[in-house]
Amino acid sequence: MTQVRDAFQTLDYGPAPESHELAAEWLHSGERVFAHYIGGRWTDGDGTVHQTRCPGDGQLLGSFRYGTDEDVDQAVAAAAEALPEWQALGGHARSRHLYRLARQIQKRSRLFAVVESLDNGKAIREARDLDIPLAARHFYHHAGWAQLAATEFPGYEPVGVVGQIIPWNFPLLMLAWKVAPALAAGNTVVLKPAECTPLSALLFAEVARETGLPPGVLNIVTGDGATGAALTRHDGVAKIAFTGSTDVGREIRRATAGTGRHLSLELGGKSPFVVFESADLDAAVEGIVDGVWLNQGQVCCAGSRLLVQESVEQEMLDRLRARMERIRVGHPLDKSIDMGAIVDATQKERIEGFLAAGTEDGATIWQPDAAVPEDGFFLPPTLCTGAPASSTIVTDEIFGPVLVSLTFRTPAEAVALANDTRYGLAASIWTEDLSLALDVAPAIKAGTVWVNCTNLFDAASGFGGYRESGFGREGGREGMWEYLKPVAGSRREAAAAPTAEAADVAREPSTGSLPRPAPEQLAGSAPEELPPSATGGRDAPSDPIDRTRKLWIGGRQKRPDGGYSIPQLDARGTPCGEVPRGNRKDVRNAVEAAAKARGPWGATTGHLRAQILYFLAENLAVRADEFAATLSRVTGVSEAAASAEAHAAVQAVFTFAAWADKYDGQVHSTPFRNVTFAMNEPVGTVAIRSGDAAPVAGTIASVAAALSQGNVAVVVASERFPLPALDLVQVLETSDIPPGTVNVLSGIHDEVFPTLAAHDDVDQLWDFVADDLSGRAEGLSAGNLKRVWVDREGAINWLALSDLATGMLLRKGTRVKNIWVPYGV
Ligand code: NAI
Ligand code: MG
Repeated sequence: MTQVRDAFQTLDYGPAPESHELAAEWLHSGERVFAHYIGGRWTDGDGTVHQTRCPGDGQLLGSFRYGTDEDVDQAVAAAAEALPEWQALGGHARSRHLYRLARQIQKRSRLFAVVESLDNGKAIREARDLDIPLAARHFYHHAGWAQLAATEFPGYEPVGVVGQIIPWNFPLLMLAWKVAPALAAGNTVVLKPAECTPLSALLFAEVARETGLPPGVLNIVTGDGATGAALTRHDGVAKIAFTGSTDVGREIRRATAGTGRHLSLELGGKSPFVVFESADLDAAVEGIVDGVWLNQGQVCCAGSRLLVQESVEQEMLDRLRARMERIRVGHPLDKSIDMGAIVDATQKERIEGFLAAGTEDGATIWQPDAAVPEDGFFLPPTLCTGAPASSTIVTDEIFGPVLVSLTFRTPAEAVALANDTRYGLAASIWTEDLSLALDVAPAIKAGTVWVNCTNLFDAASGFGGYRESGFGREGGREGMWEYLKPVAGSRREAAAAPTAEAADVAREPSTGSLPRPAPEQLAGSAPEELPPSATGGRDAPSDPIDRTRKLWIGGRQKRPDGGYSIPQLDARGTPCGEVPRGNRKDVRNAVEAAAKARGPWGATTGHLRAQILYFLAENLAVRADEFAATLSRVTGVSEAAASAEAHAAVQAVFTFAAWADKYDGQVHSTPFRNVTFAMNEPVGTVAIRSGDAAPVAGTIASVAAALSQGNVAVVVASERFPLPALDLVQVLETSDIPPGTVNVLSGIHDEVFPTLAAHDDVDQLWDFVADDLSGRAEGLSAGNLKRVWVDREGAINWLALSDLATGMLLRKGTRVKNIWVPYGV
C-alpha cells in the first residue's frame, strides 16, 4: 500500500478522470446519428454518414452527415427567411437572446467541456477553464453590442445571411467568435463546423432551440471542405467568415472574388516568441508552455518560433528542457494532464512530416523522456534547435507541439527575425525592460502583441492578422464592423447636400452623351508615330490644358515606359491633350517607389502629416479655379458644378488633415491584470483605383485619407477623365510630400490595375469603380492576401463626404494592433 509519505516523496500524479457519463448520455454512447440543424428543425438530408471519434482512445462518439449542395441551399433559404423578423426584433430583443445563450453555455458548461475534450482531444482542464468560459464571455459581450448597435453604428445595417466556416482546434470558441457578433449585428447565420469536431456545434444548436432562438436565425450544416465550398459559392450568402488554413483562405478569396460577398479570413501563423536577456527567464519558460503547448500547439497564434537572445540561450533552453520533462501527456479527460491528443491521424502525420524534414535539414529534434500513451494520436512536447532559416520547420505553420528555437543578438535583429515570415497573427515579447518591450511592439508586424504574457484572448479585444494571416478582426468594436455594411443608398442621401446636388444635376445630362475617343485612339499612339518628344511639342502655351501629361513616380514626372500615350477629347469632342498609357513596368516602378517611402512616412507623426496635408490643401485651393476649368472642359459639367467639385476636394483634404492626429486608438477593458492598447497602424501601400464620378475630388480625397493615417499611395487616375488627376501632380510637386509617398498612374485600367492587384508589395486595394475588373482584382489579390475594398455599396460620395464615408476611409486606412501589457492588480 502506498504510504502518504511515499506519495509526498515522489509527488507523482495519479489519474483524475473527469466523468464521461453526462456526455455518454447525450451521445447515446456513440449510437446517435446527428442531422443538420436547419430552420429550427433537425434535417437529415442525403449526405453521406461519417463518424467522429475521440483522438485520445478511438472511441466512437457519434455519426453525422456531410452536407450536400442541397442542404446548404436549404439552410441559406432558412436563414434568408428568418432575416426580416430577426432584424425587426430590434437590438434589445436580440440582446436578450444572446444573453440567454451565454447563460445556457454557462449552465451546461460541464457537458460542453467534456464533449469538446472528447471530440477534439484537448485537455479537459483547458476546455473547462478556457474554451467554454470564453465562449460564454463572447455571447455576454455581444449581447451588449446587440443592445448598443443602433446607437454605436449609425448609418450601418447588417450584411444579411452570413456563411461561417470554422476549424477544429477550438470548435465551440470559434463558433462563439463568429455567431455572437453576426447575430448581435442583426444577421442570420449558416455555420459549418469542421469535419473532425462537429459535436459542440450540434450541442449548441440544441441549446439555441431550447432557449427559443427563432428558427432559421442559426443553422448548422455539418460536412467537410466540399460542404464549406458550397457555402462560399452560394449566391444567397452576403458574407463569408472563415478561420482555417491559409491555403483554404486563398481558395475562398478566389471563390468569392467578384461576387460582392464580404469576406473576413483568420488564417495561420508562425508567431514569434521573443525572449530578451532582460527577461524573467522562469516566467518566459511558463509563457512558452502556454504559448506553444496549449491545445497541443494546434493554435493559430501559437508562439511556435522562439527567438532568444544569444547571451541567455543556453540558460533558457536548459530551463526549458527541465520544464518539458514535467509536462504530462495523457487522456484528454484526465484532469491532471497538460497535453491531450492531436486531433486526428492526418494531423499527427503532418506534424511528424515536419519533424522528419527538419531532421533532414540538419535540425536537432529533442523530446522529453516522459511516457506518451500508446493508443490514440499523442505526441510529446518537442524542441527543435539548429534548423537553417530556410527549413520548412522554421518557415511553415506546423500546428502541433513543436517549438523551433533561433537566436538573435540585438533588438533590431530580433525585430527583423520576427518579421521574417509571410504571416502576422501574433507575437510575444519577454523582457523586464518595459521601454524595450514598447519599442519592439510597434515594430513587429502582427495583429496581437503580448508583452510578458501570451495566448490571452478576450471578447473585448479584436483578434486577427496582418499579411497572410488574413484580414478582419473578431471581437470588440473592431469585430462588429465585419458584420455591418453602410445602409444602402447612402450615396444618394449624402448627395442631397447642396453643393453635390448642383454638381450632380449639372453632370448627369452631359455624361450620357459624352463623346469618347475612337477605339483606335484609345489604343494609343505608337511611339514611332508620335514619339514622346513630338507629343511634348504639342504644348500650346495659349491653352495650358492641351499638354502631354506625365506619370508621377517616386516624386518625379516620368514618361510611360512603353512610350505610348492616349489622346484625350474634351466634352465637345475636340482633342485636349494626351495622357500616358502606363504599363506593368510603370506599375512596378510606382510600387517600388512607394515601398521606399512606406517606412519613413509610416513613422511620421500625425502632427507632421496634418501640416503637410494642410499645405497640400492650400496649394490646391490656390488653383481651384484652374482645376474647375479643366474639369468642366473635359467632363462637360457646368462651371458651377466643376467649381463645387474643386472646393469639395479642398475640403476633403482639410478633413483628412484634421483627422491625421485625431484618429486615435483605444484601450480595451480586458478582464485580466492588464490593459490592451488597440493601436491604429497604417496598412502600408494602398493602390487606389479612381472612378469617373469625381475625377479631382475622388483622387485627391482618397489619397489624402490614405496619407493621413501613414499609408503611401499608388493611385490610378479615372480611366475616362484622367487629365485632372494628372494635373494634380503639379500641386503634389509643390507640396512637401516626400518622393514616392504618392504615385499617380494613368492608362487603361485593365492594363495597370491587375498588376497592382497581384503585386506582393501592395498591401491594400481601394476600388471606387466596382465593375468586372474589381472582381478580377479580388481574385488576383489572393497571392499575398492583401485587403481589398471595393465600394460596391456606393458609400462614398466625393462631392460631399459624409461622416460615414470619412469614418470608413479612416478605418480602411488603418489596421488595429492590440498590445497586451500587464497593468494593475
Ligand atoms: P482547413 O483549412 O482545411 O479546414 C478548416 C475548415 O475549412 C474546415 O471546416 C474545413 O472543412 C473547411 N474547408 C476546407 N476546405 C474548404 C474549401 N475549399 N472551402 C470552404 N471550406 C473548406 O484546415 P485542415 O485541413 O483541417 O488543417 C490543415 C492545416 O491548416 C493545419 O495543419 C494548420 O496548419 C492549418 N489550420 C489553421 C487553423 C487556424 O486557426 N489558423 C485552423 C485549422 C487548420
Ligand atoms: Mg482540410
